[in-house]
Amino acid sequence: MERQIEVVSEHELQPEDREALEEWSRELFGEAEDKYDWARPDWRVLVREAGVLAAHAAISQRTVSANGEPARVGGIGGVMSPRKFQGKGHAKIAMLRTHEYMRETLGLEFGFLFCSAPLLRYYQRLGWERIEGPVTFAQDEGDADWEEEAMVLPLTDRIWPGPPIDLNGLPW
Ligand SMILES: CC(C)(COP(=O)(O)OP(=O)(O)OC[C@H]1O[C@@H](n2cnc3c(N)ncnc32)[C@H](O)[C@@H]1OP(=O)(O)O)[C@@H](O)C(=O)NCCC(=O)NCCS
Repeated sequence: MERQIEVVSEHELQPEDREALEEWSRELFGEAEDKYDWARPDWRVLVREAGVLAAHAAISQRTVSANGEPARVGGIGGVMSPRKFQGKGHAKIAMLRTHEYMRETLGLEFGFLFCSAPLLRYYQRLGWERIEGPVTFAQDEGDADWEEEAMVLPLTDRIWPGPPIDLNGLPW
């Protein structure tokens, strides 16, 4: 299989790729996507099969507060592969590239992501660990707390400081 993987900054994302990602997001997340205001990511990992976009994951770089300590995290969001490309490992490759990019290029301490309970297993197999909340983040109308699962991926030997967690901004 011919597969290409690239990391682009948000402003380098081509309009046709942005359009495709918006469409995937509507299809795969539906109205759940409209529940919150989301941060604009800093980086995007794009995986193509024979030149066609097949999977995506975004990285938002942020210093969050965890148990009163600053922690430099890469917030992973928009993990998606459209149905016709699923089950081929493209999303897994996108995730593994985010791990490498956060660790080697950005020098971050932890990956941090939100998911629903059925996806815990998927991310656990990639090395992620479920963490305890509360996780608080900013919204227009004031702070809100995440109601589903949150996970971290240690990228150095630092141990996750624990709750409570404040994202110090919008969620990703
Ligand atoms: C989640 C998603 C990105 C996975 O894409 P995918 O193409 O099916 O996954 P991959 O092919 O990369 O799967 C890699 C491995 O995880 C397994 N897997 C896939 N979904 C899984 C799940 N829900 N639970 C446990 N394992 C799972 C696959 O069987 C595969 O196993 P293998 O390595 O032994 O072959 C895709 O289903 C999707 O876009 N879902 C809708 C959007 C979404 O919910 N995104 C996550 C937001 S947190």
